[in-house]
Amino acid sequence: MKKRVLITNLIPEAAYQKLSRRFQVTWNKHQLTEAQLVLKIKSFDAVLTTLADPVTARVLNSAPHLKCVANFAVGFNNIDLVTAKSRGIWVTNTPDVLTEATADLAWALILACARRVPEGEKFVRTTGFKGWGALFLLGQDLFGKTLGVYGFGRIGKAVAWRGRGWNMPVLYHQRHQESSVVEKRYNAKYVSFKTLLNQSDILSINSPLTPETRHRFTYQEFKQMKPNSIFINASRGLIHKEADLVKALKTKVIASAGLDVYEFEPMINKDLLKLSNCTLLPHLGSATLETRNKMALLAAENIELVLLGCRPKTPVLSK
Ligand code: GLV
Repeated sequence: MKKRVLITNLIPEAAYQKLSRRFQVTWNKHQLTEAQLVLKIKSFDAVLTTLADPVTARVLNSAPHLKCVANFAVGFNNIDLVTAKSRGIWVTNTPDVLTEATADLAWALILACARRVPEGEKFVRTTGFKGWGALFLLGQDLFGKTLGVYGFGRIGKAVAWRGRGWNMPVLYHQRHQESSVVEKRYNAKYVSFKTLLNQSDILSINSPLTPETRHRFTYQEFKQMKPNSIFINASRGLIHKEADLVKALKTKVIASAGLDVYEFEPMINKDLLKLSNCTLLPHLGSATLETRNKMALLAAENIELVLLGCRPKTPVLSK
């Protein structure tokens, strides 16, 4: 009997094609709730999930044959790792293949905020271009400014690397300090969290969501940032408190924010939507054709390896 694989949502077809060669694949093409997943997953040996799927203990425990949860994302905070481990289920993610695309997106937000790109674009479409103005929509220079990176993993480093083009000194903070070789390569200096807050002109959040990083950025933290600073989050929305960010933007405690992720995603704070000093994107970090295809193939490969009795390529959790 062929092993059974569930793909929970619409993703590039490459995954379905790869998996269908060896397994019996069911491809669900719309978002499922936790209750729907509980019912759907029961008979499967492996499941290819997205970051919007709540892979809770209830979901995992409703699938007695489950051997692998392959998340189509680098983040895996949507999966109950404790239950997966106790059940001996492999959990995998899609690192590396999305690093550059996600760093590009963070930079798209940095540039959009610094140069007020969305405001200019909206103006042209709604009001119309009435002519050049010396004092019109003035933004901020980026060249030589200090780039702060919270979470200096693969994506944080790729964000820092791009800063070379703008001659940016990089400050970073995370649990551990990198080697001097790495720091030299990225022109980066390890600093305390406090220094990161009060010295960065641009502060980019690139850490995973963990109990330690959850709500790490509240009004308290925004107050310690420079008044001209730009806050960027292309990681996970729960790392910032959205109501506090609104307050900081409204009162000009910081200059602007660029968000790709939201605290209660896909819901967005209504007041945030009204502010012009923020750029808001619908979680597009890895959203390029090439990258999404690579993610699909990597997730499928992980499932294939596990169901063939091998170690997956990119496990986040060993059994
Ligand atoms: C996107 O947010 C990811 O975790 O891949």
